[in-house]
Amino acid sequence: MKIVIEQDYQKMSDRAAAIIARQVICKPDSVLGFATGSTPVGTYNKLAHMNKEGLVDFSKVTTFNLDEYAGLDENDQNSYRYFMNQNLFDHINIDKENTHVPKGNLDNLNEVCAQYEQAIANSGGIDLQLLGIGHNGHIGFNEPGASLDSLTHVVDLSSRTIEANARFFESAEKVPRQAISMGIKTIMKSKQIILLCSGKDKSDAIYEALFGDITQQVPASILQLHPNITFIIDKDAAEKICAKGLDK
Ligand code: GLP
Repeated sequence: MKIVIEQDYQKMSDRAAAIIARQVICKPDSVLGFATGSTPVGTYNKLAHMNKEGLVDFSKVTTFNLDEYAGLDENDQNSYRYFMNQNLFDHINIDKENTHVPKGNLDNLNEVCAQYEQAIANSGGIDLQLLGIGHNGHIGFNEPGASLDSLTHVVDLSSRTIEANARFFESAEKVPRQAISMGIKTIMKSKQIILLCSGKDKSDAIYEALFGDITQQVPASILQLHPNITFIIDKDAAEKICAKGLDK
């Protein structure tokens, strides 16, 4: 496990974009796993810039997103499909047919989940998965208590996550109560993982993920067992790590 502490959000984003670009340059038909939330936006901006500059070509890349809210149409401005189009896919030369976000607005969500998991397997598996982290240590929408053995599934969102994500909606009441999320096992099967973390408010969560016990109560803590993971953290998020020292 590698831990990279960068000076600020921009440097964190640039570092992550460089690793993703290197992956695509070395393997043009890479399968990338993407995340939503505020944290990866800087990385997506940088990748779009690198694409425009001709430094990286996404024409053969396939992507799978971590998650999607249940019940939202993909044209809904709060859907994660809409987010990905706005923040990345509309700005790079990727074939949209090769971009996958779970469909949260269909009737049989369990079937959607099984098909999504199968599509990842059929693609050969995820070469590089980008992750953020929630304040309660969630990854994707795998909330505290999630099974470490889970595949893509329907989840009930915790009140803390609903509250944190309410900033994107008119009010907390409008935040969907359920979502589809890759499971922890789906994420752990990725060949390489980058987890981004920014801001003082995530300082406790990232400390627990990196140095706490491996427990279902902090889903990100399972990542300590991944053979090829890099945590890229800005200085604010690293506050507790720096205060306590790297040796626990
Ligand atoms: C959501 C997403 C996660 C993301 C988390 C943190 O719950 N499902 O994938 O990591 O929010 O988001 P942010 O980066 O906005 O803090």
